Amino acid sequence: MSSGAIIAIVIAAVVVLGALAAITIGRGRDVRGAGALTRETRQRDKQGVSAGTQLDTIASSSKEVEQAAADARTSAGTAITPVGNVAPVPWVAPDPEVIGATRRHFLNVSMVSLMGISLASFGGACLAFLYPKKGGGFGSKVAVGKLEDIVSSITANGGFYYFPAARTWITAYPKDALPKASKAYAAAPAVLSGQTNGINALYQKCPHLGCRVPNCPSSQWFECPCHGSQYNRVGEKKAGPAPRGMDRFGVSIVADNVTVDTSIVVLGPPIGTNTTGQEAEGPHCVGGK
Ligand code: FES
Repeated sequence: MSSGAIIAIVIAAVVVLGALAAITIGRGRDVRGAGALTRETRQRDKQGVSAGTQLDTIASSSKEVEQAAADARTSAGTAITPVGNVAPVPWVAPDPEVIGATRRHFLNVSMVSLMGISLASFGGACLAFLYPKKGGGFGSKVAVGKLEDIVSSITANGGFYYFPAARTWITAYPKDALPKASKAYAAAPAVLSGQTNGINALYQKCPHLGCRVPNCPSSQWFECPCHGSQYNRVGEKKAGPAPRGMDRFGVSIVADNVTVDTSIVVLGPPIGTNTTGQEAEGPHCVGGK
């Protein structure tokens, strides 16, 4: 499934869950079990009204009750009248229906709110994870630098230049191998483009079981320490259990600026491909031959 489809599914799920949370909060006070009045209470209220209860004399909120009490205190003056030896009146819990919110209603709203916040955080994290990077890291097009500087770095580092942001080994591709390369890499024009300009961008991951393949300065090959697969300097397989040559990336060069496209991994050439004819130039690092 593409990342676009996954993003669409995550957005749809967050929207649906958000709508459900909003509906639940909106209906929280109308449904049974979420602070609603019981049928008996509603019937009692109706009977009270039909019996001539004056609704405008009933305080509709705790604020109005408090205000009425404050008014009564003010109109009665500020003098404190001793009450004498009166027995204390036992405390009676306030009626939740007068206060306007039951404990159950409060808990329902709290749980739904927390669930909504959690889902929103999760959805945001998913989107952030799936959103394509624009920073040019691995998995996208990575600017490596000027072609001239890259060629100098390859020479200065003994034939191998490693660029960590692209997880790529860049090596020189000999011009005299281009006729063979144009046939062997015809199916991968982006790879051929780099070779035509004298460089080769190889994925560091071994095509056998995925170990990172280091260069071997003495043999001038790549030699995998895990199971001993060996590849020449342009990543064509020479020995070991690997099923093909090293995988690689397309290279584009505009105004001497080199970009390696790590969003597409081009599978390495089949066993037997040997466009450069390079043999080991010294002792091997792996295998001891
Ligand atoms: S992982 Fe490299 S040879 Fe097995």
